Amino acid sequence: GLHPIQSAMVDLHASQCGFCTPGIVMSLVCHYLNRGSISRHEIDITLAGNLCRCTGYGPIIETAKQIANYENPAWWRRAQVRVKSQLMKWESDNKALMVNDGYFKFFSPLSLKQLIDFLSEFPDSIIVAGMTDVGLWITKKGEQLTPLLSLSRVKSLHKIKVEKNFIEIGAAVTYGDAIKLLTKVSPGLGELLRRIGSKQIRNTGTICGNIANGSPIGDMPPPLIALGTSVVLRDSTGRRKLDLEDFFIDYDRQNIKEGEFIEKIQVPWVSGIFRCYKVSKRFEQDISAVAAGFQIKIKGKKVVAARIAFGGMAAIPKRAKYCEEAIIGSPWEKYTVEKAKKALLEDFKPISDARASKKYRILVAGNLLERFFIETTSKEGLFQLADRRLYEEEKNA
Ligand code: FES
Repeated sequence: GLHPIQSAMVDLHASQCGFCTPGIVMSLVCHYLNRGSISRHEIDITLAGNLCRCTGYGPIIETAKQIANYENPAWWRRAQVRVKSQLMKWESDNKALMVNDGYFKFFSPLSLKQLIDFLSEFPDSIIVAGMTDVGLWITKKGEQLTPLLSLSRVKSLHKIKVEKNFIEIGAAVTYGDAIKLLTKVSPGLGELLRRIGSKQIRNTGTICGNIANGSPIGDMPPPLIALGTSVVLRDSTGRRKLDLEDFFIDYDRQNIKEGEFIEKIQVPWVSGIFRCYKVSKRFEQDISAVAAGFQIKIKGKKVVAARIAFGGMAAIPKRAKYCEEAIIGSPWEKYTVEKAKKALLEDFKPISDARASKKYRILVAGNLLERFFIETTSKEGLFQLADRRLYEEEKNA
């Protein structure tokens, strides 16, 4: 028989060719089981990533609203108990998983010790956590990755620790795990996280993975650099800590040795005025053309400290040192921003690619700085993005 959510999809004419339907049903079931709210915004977040090209979203959204009142059938509840207990049994087996056919090796350890031992034996291992990026090397490039080492079952790497001066985020912590806390650090940062992938991807991809892959257009490094984040690297000899900006050396080159892995990052609380932005062709689920993080401290009328970082503007995510220099020691006024915008030309020589032209990137970087200025000085600007969304939702309701 059909699950009530499947029946609702049929009854409300929410499926035509059916190509998208399995994905939509799975997203709705997950939302339903998690007792998700039926506000339009929440439904949009739930369905993000599921593209339907024939039904139109109206009936699908209507289904999402209706299912809130549905009872989960008894056969489903029984199956849930059975599957859950099987999963728990596997979980409590407490065994590291090794697949080795003589050529291909995949290792999924449970403890840091097992991880470090494997890495000492195979220092050239490809390290993955959620594998939302590296997985594409297999599916798109046809690569055979070995030895492959997964961090995803190492419990201690799933920890988030809230300290007085910073938040510590383990290497296996997903965007989904961290989003609430990072929204507390800054609502803008939470909003940026929400625009990464879809819910499914955010529940799998990790924040540290977004750093480890060294992409010049990763969404997380610019805001994290602006906040003054540190990276803690680990190997069999111990730990070393470095500023996140020093982790990126050049295109495809990071400050990490063979046998080392990122154990965690430490993200300081906001200590000044902070904002972060992402500009992409689509609002959600798109790669940045430009991403930026800004943090300044003002004493009296003058800026006394500035950390400004951009992604998409160079071969690595990078601080805009000339721009920072143009701001520090000056009043936080329009003419300072104009001076700092010119300094960006000394900081960056971006390239043109499929996402944006060089000219566009330079223009956008300057405009984001201006936006930061407007948001932090004018009354309208102080009306935060997240607040604006809530306001619009209430207005529409
Ligand atoms: Fe055809 Fe959605 S029903 S793509």
